[in-house]
Amino acid sequence: MIVDRETRAAFTEALDLLARKTLEDEKTLGVGFPYVTRPDGSWDTMYASRSAGYDGEAWSHGNWFCGFWVGLLLISHLHTGKAEALELARERMRMVADRSGDPNTHDIGFIFLSSALPAFHITGDETYAEIGLNAARQLRARLVRTDRGAYVSSWGPHDDIRGRRSSAIDTMANLPLLYWAAGQARDDSFLVAGELHAQATERAFIRPDLSTYHAVEYDLPSGERRRGYTFQGYGDESFWSRGQGWAVLGFAETARATGSLAYLALAHRLADRFLEALGDATAAPWDFDDPAGPDATLDTAASAIMANALLQVADLEPDAELAEERRSQAIGILRDLCREHLSRDDAERGLLRHGCYSRPHNIGPDAAVLFGEYYFAEALLMVLKPGALRATPARLDPAGSATP
Ligand code: GLY
Repeated sequence: MIVDRETRAAFTEALDLLARKTLEDEKTLGVGFPYVTRPDGSWDTMYASRSAGYDGEAWSHGNWFCGFWVGLLLISHLHTGKAEALELARERMRMVADRSGDPNTHDIGFIFLSSALPAFHITGDETYAEIGLNAARQLRARLVRTDRGAYVSSWGPHDDIRGRRSSAIDTMANLPLLYWAAGQARDDSFLVAGELHAQATERAFIRPDLSTYHAVEYDLPSGERRRGYTFQGYGDESFWSRGQGWAVLGFAETARATGSLAYLALAHRLADRFLEALGDATAAPWDFDDPAGPDATLDTAASAIMANALLQVADLEPDAELAEERRSQAIGILRDLCREHLSRDDAERGLLRHGCYSRPHNIGPDAAVLFGEYYFAEALLMVLKPGALRATPARLDPAGSATP
């Protein structure tokens, strides 16, 4: 990908910073994995083994961040060429691997998409492919069949009806694990599960104004939407910014996996809705409907995820002019994030300031958040070294099927 000198310099500086901080942090982290920064800028950590679950009636997501740390080490390795970063990623992967049998959460996709799959891509070590496939089987097992199709439930053990009835928009960003597994295992049941979920999400999550629900509870067995609601957004009917990025990523990847331009067109429309709400800003508010308006808490992670998704849309888009427009929107957001929100302060261990994990739960409400760091750094690397972390997608064939 051709980028101008200033852009290359800005992205290189950000990845230099990432690699330096990540390798420094490895010396003090012990077996904890970073997830959000504390107000003093240091990382709050969690063991990789911490699964999701109910604490009474309250749902806790557990450690769905651990794979991103492995991914950041891999990105650091690819950016600097340092063998130490790859070795540390391999060590961390040993701590994450057990989670590939976790039956409690759709976030198993996030965990292994950012760790085992790029580790396999970089090293060719089949052990990582096996870990990825194991995780994909758990994700596929979350499929709930209804009279109208099927969806992947997001939260809880499969036999717990509280979670089984619901799905979240984040699940869309977990689907690429299924799509990868379909190719890796030559087993289309993974692809069918992913596409069925994407179809259910298209039907139940997208509001007439093209914003998306964070979560939907389905009626069983009819598969009708019983209600749309939120867990991490401002309100049940509000426009949670991060969720829109997850949706665009998921529909773009569904287009890639199925070769269908209809999913790509939907990804474009959902991206436009986000960009329209973002306006001239760089960092999205954590929720576009927070009544605080310009004073709302920011979420740089939402912008980074959307920029990453726009790069993927650009790679798939067969119309060269439209592809270029998407690419320059993505690069524009990334450049602005580098200029306005990069943390060059060593006391702050994160890369990107002003991310927001969960405002309603007051967890990392104004912090560096590990998923934001990952999608940001992955996007920068996709621009500087396309294909290094994972295969670059083939442009879709305008006749409707993917071309090599
Ligand atoms: N579990 C994904 C998210 O919180 O956005």
